[in-house]
Amino acid sequence: MSSDTLRAVDASQEVLRFLKSRRSTLVKNMISPGPDASQIADILQTASRVPDHRKLAPFRFLTFTGKAREDFGKHIGAAFAKAHPDMPLDRTVFEAGRFLRAPVVIAVIASPVDCSRGTPKSEQIFTAGAVCFQMLLAARAMGFAGQWLTEWYAYDAAVQKALGLSGEEQVAGFIYLGSASEDPSERARPDVGALTQAWTG
Ligand SMILES: Cc1cc2nc3c(=O)[nH]c(=O)nc-3n(C[C@H](O)[C@H](O)[C@H](O)COP(=O)(O)O)c2cc1C
Repeated sequence: MSSDTLRAVDASQEVLRFLKSRRSTLVKNMISPGPDASQIADILQTASRVPDHRKLAPFRFLTFTGKAREDFGKHIGAAFAKAHPDMPLDRTVFEAGRFLRAPVVIAVIASPVDCSRGTPKSEQIFTAGAVCFQMLLAARAMGFAGQWLTEWYAYDAAVQKALGLSGEEQVAGFIYLGSASEDPSERARPDVGALTQAWTG
């Protein structure tokens, strides 16, 4: 049986350990290298393999590498300066440098469509969120660090225009990818017992 053969289940202690210990790497701890073009393509293909009601693929990607990060940062800086004209220039410079914090930034755009067969737009947004998370998992499994951020500029109209968002599109996330300069510390996790009840009617 080839390793690509689909199986109903695939028990793996290694995958469980991976999932149970998974963490994001904060962008402040991100360094080069990031994934190269072929690795990015692989990460996006893997990230796209998510549950998707009626196979609508309600998402798309914009990749930012090299100078594109600096060039797009000018839009972020300009949007910040316009919204905060009283802020000092160095703050605008900081904002313009946001995409330079990691070697690769992938914008995951949620693109919900009117589905005549009835898939609600909310479900399509969930699919785009699943893409973001699967991207973090794929990148990590390939040895790269990642963080899912939106910050303020995901919600800024001028930045959205510069991204070419149309209609009901929205930024599901900016996935920052690179290498980790240090291992992350543990982060508090929810008390799942407190969040779970057996339904008794
Ligand atoms: C949709 C979404 C947006 C987020 N945006 C931000 C953000 O703007 N700033 C931030 O510090 N963390 C943000 N986070 C949180 C981080 O991605 C992440 O949860 C945190 O770094 C720890 O995650 P971990 O459980 O993967 O270690 C966001 C998370 C999600 C799901």
